[in-house]
Amino acid sequence: MSVNVIDGRQLAEHLVEEMAEEVKARTAQGYQTPGLAVVLVGENPASAIYVRNKIRTAEKAGLHCVVIKLDASCSQQALDEVVIELNERDDIDGILVQLPLPAHLSEERIINLISPEKDVDGFHPMNVGRLSTGQATLVPCTPLGCLEILKREIGDLSGMHAVVIGRSNIVGKPMASLLLQANCTVSVVHSKSVDAASLCRQADILVVAVGVPELVDRHLVKPGAVVLDVGINAIEQDGKRKLVGDVNFADVADICQAITPVPGGIGPMTIACLIKNTLAAAKQRGVKQPVV
Ligand code: GUN
Repeated sequence: MSVNVIDGRQLAEHLVEEMAEEVKARTAQGYQTPGLAVVLVGENPASAIYVRNKIRTAEKAGLHCVVIKLDASCSQQALDEVVIELNERDDIDGILVQLPLPAHLSEERIINLISPEKDVDGFHPMNVGRLSTGQATLVPCTPLGCLEILKREIGDLSGMHAVVIGRSNIVGKPMASLLLQANCTVSVVHSKSVDAASLCRQADILVVAVGVPELVDRHLVKPGAVVLDVGINAIEQDGKRKLVGDVNFADVADICQAITPVPGGIGPMTIACLIKNTLAAAKQRGVKQPVV
């Protein structure tokens, strides 16, 4: 079987170009430029890279961007106050607090504090509830990017067996909700699952989001499956650092119908979906430019 490697970078670039046109059209109609605020606490190097990439792409799309960097030792109250101020700012349509936070800060508290209509991560319980009851809402960016790829690759997903490996709030659970809504039969496999391997081998669609380098090899993949690799793991090989996914790409690629690479697969699509959510939040808020 020839290998169909899904080019997430190219697809994301295309989507961002389309959204840049939409942003221009909106501002020409008198709406304010959609605004995205990203809050970064501390010095986690991976988080710093993710935030830089998010802002770079958001600027390419023509968004108004604000980055707020707080010291790793900042208090819960100081972080709360930043979020409360962003909730109130008219120029900001979307708020993202990069996770993980330093251990002394509560992620749950911050997720609950972000105004649901500005929650471009889709992590607020209000938005999670809306997603799981099939209501229109802001959907977490990574699963949204995965769904976009699946729809382009497969079309109608009805009746397909989708297996999601991992049950995080950021990827696994919302991914399962979206696949269910797309009429898939969904299994969520995790560390306590009994005979996870046989479930994985039944998957027409396999989404892997566990953060274990190259966990999935060809023995877990049904020939002809579409495999989406959400993992981004830095490992050391032959004295060099490199990024690998949760799927052993070299072992699996030739038996799949299609597979996303790492890097250049799901990562860029996650960022494109952040722009999409910010635009959606701006449309929903509908704030006009001030008359001067
Ligand atoms: N850390 C890793 N992924 C994400 C994400 O999608 N959103 C936020 N806020 N933090 C993250």
